[in-house]
Amino acid sequence: MSKIVKVLLLAFLAFSQMACSYINSTDNLDNQVDKLLAQMTLDEKIGQLVQKNGDHPNLDKMIEEGGIGSVLNQVNPDEVLRIQRLAVEESRLGIPLLIARDVIHGFRTILPIPLAQAASWNLTLVEEGARVAATEAASQGVRWSFAPMIDLTRDPRWGRIAEGFGEDPLLNGEFGAAVVRGFQGDSLSNPTSIAACPKHFAAYGWAEGGRDYNTANISESDLYDIVLPPFIKVFEAGAATTMTAFNEINGIPATGHAPLLRDLLRNKWNFQGVVVSDWESVTQMEVHGYTQNPKQSALKAMQATVDMEMASTAYETHLKELIADGKIEEKDIDDAVKRILRLKFELGLFDNPYAHTAEFPELLNPKHLNVAKTMAQESAVLLKNSNRVLPLSDDIKTLVVIGPLADAPHDQLGTWIFDGRKEDAITPLQSLKAMAKEKGIELKYHRALETSRSKNIIGKQAILNDVRRADLVLLFLGEESILSGESHSLANIDLQGAQMELVEMVATVGKPVVATILAGRPVTFERVEPMLDAVLYAWHPGTMAGPAIADLLFGVVSPSGKLPVTFPRHVGQIPIYYNHKRTGKPASNQTWERLDDIPVEAPQLSIGNTSHYLDYGFEPMYPFGYGLSYSSFQISEVKIEGSKLSVGDKLIVSALLTNTGDHEAAEVVQVYTHQLVGSRTRPVKELRAFQKVLLSPDDSAHIKFSINTNDLGFHNPAMEYVVEPGQYHIWVGNSSEHGIQLSFEIIN
Ligand code: NOJ
Repeated sequence: MSKIVKVLLLAFLAFSQMACSYINSTDNLDNQVDKLLAQMTLDEKIGQLVQKNGDHPNLDKMIEEGGIGSVLNQVNPDEVLRIQRLAVEESRLGIPLLIARDVIHGFRTILPIPLAQAASWNLTLVEEGARVAATEAASQGVRWSFAPMIDLTRDPRWGRIAEGFGEDPLLNGEFGAAVVRGFQGDSLSNPTSIAACPKHFAAYGWAEGGRDYNTANISESDLYDIVLPPFIKVFEAGAATTMTAFNEINGIPATGHAPLLRDLLRNKWNFQGVVVSDWESVTQMEVHGYTQNPKQSALKAMQATVDMEMASTAYETHLKELIADGKIEEKDIDDAVKRILRLKFELGLFDNPYAHTAEFPELLNPKHLNVAKTMAQESAVLLKNSNRVLPLSDDIKTLVVIGPLADAPHDQLGTWIFDGRKEDAITPLQSLKAMAKEKGIELKYHRALETSRSKNIIGKQAILNDVRRADLVLLFLGEESILSGESHSLANIDLQGAQMELVEMVATVGKPVVATILAGRPVTFERVEPMLDAVLYAWHPGTMAGPAIADLLFGVVSPSGKLPVTFPRHVGQIPIYYNHKRTGKPASNQTWERLDDIPVEAPQLSIGNTSHYLDYGFEPMYPFGYGLSYSSFQISEVKIEGSKLSVGDKLIVSALLTNTGDHEAAEVVQVYTHQLVGSRTRPVKELRAFQKVLLSPDDSAHIKFSINTNDLGFHNPAMEYVVEPGQYHIWVGNSSEHGIQLSFEIIN
């Protein structure tokens, strides 16, 4: 070996030891982080707080200079490998990148939208689905997903209702935690695990009028008792990160909200994980009118303990100046860097920065597709089934399939499907054709409307001819995927275009009509509901919509979904939700709900004084927790152990569930409580527990719930969390409107 080569080799060894001197797998994590931090320049530290999109023009250079901590939206495994190599092999300290992506309901195998997942009321299944998504994403080098979204909302106009778990705090918390467990697995360091990012902190779903990004005017009690509790659940489940929100909360943008982020999340809840801003939400504080310039935005976000800035450039441009000005200390930056480095160590990125794609299960493998199919089946909600028209009887010889969503492989996938492909999707039409062939059924198909928004019905005469010849009509209605999701809010949530006219036209023939609705939100369709014999609400079911829906319609499996959100009759009823307050003049069944019924020149007080609409009453179209089955169930022997409980005791509730019908089917038993009198008025009902149980005909199951009385509290007028002594009602039932009622008392 020549002298010069030897010198170079020694120099290289010395350098590589120096570069990696912080990596020592036997050292504890904090020491490793501290050792690395001690070697970092201020620029390198700030670099860790920067997140850039995969197509950023200076990406490579910035990575080589240690100027980027995380890259989002780069999922081509070759590219991911290339940029990770740049970070690990070319930057001075070799700190790996955190590759991030919105893996919202599946990666390549697209699962039902999250709102649909909540309709399954099956936590194990949703956790399994998240595991599928994590494994597929991690196989491409993605180790951080911006999900679950647990922004509780009471507004189906809001396009992002599709992305969350509905209107209830317990459901949002439990399903959010299930996704966290599925993503993060037993250990973040497992190469198939990805870090979860419950979002958006906070109150993003409270957007005024359901207009996305809009102001959240929210009472302290709704914020603390309705919106924030799901976040506590996901952090208890170990969520590694969270994301701030675009909206302002009572005048302060969420991304600069120190009372919520620093005082509550960090100091009170002791959240040690990474807080990332939303896309440019740091600099948008200026647009809100809360800061004067990007420098002040950086200051506000830093003071609120936002660790990483997504996409905008306030941190990289101004943090140094802010230290020089004495507005922040280097320690503030150190704290943020430590949290980010810690996550990278926990993910095992220092030891194993590159994804070994070939060692992972294939994308879209049969196991993954089967999970997607089961989820699509369990999340469909049977809203109506007159004369038991479903499941389709063996006597059916001719079917006609009609509608814009029967064969819409792109739209059945729903919103946020960056990595899903319509070529992978199996549509209801494809599956129904296959099943019809097997059963010797003649099947005709008419798209009728080009899209869900089209105003012209194509081929009216041909449709009517086929309907006349058919034994039954299967309509596929709903929304295209583009009509829900981020910034895709609607003022009118009726079935769009000429869909209602289509129903009316088909119904005139008098054949049984079954509608399957694929949508990203509750849509309103009261006008045509009486013309439909059955309605199956399938949401946007994902890749396996076809096989799932065909099995449901033909009765291979029974529907078992329950609504995670109240369905209004009319958009003007919004907000309408099950856990509302009583008011001093509660509405009753005597309430008017048809303007025409009101006598002309009726005296002012003759038509009652209760809280309702003269034209739409007070009831929803379908209540929260509702959903039918092909079977029937009886809930009996409802008991609670002890009628007087102290705070901290467990409330033990039991019941017997019997399948009294003739199909194997699952029922969701739901427990609600109501505190009769409180220092602040209490909602009429609050979901406390649920269990989904599969039973064969005539089988019964004893069901037991253990509810911690500590969880029955709320924030009193002094904003202290209290569980108050007094009388409570409890219901055990199969929807928020049907249950067997008992009472108990909490004593001092
Ligand atoms: C904006 C969305 O609000 C957020 O949820 C998402 O994760 C980011 N864009 C990144 O795509």
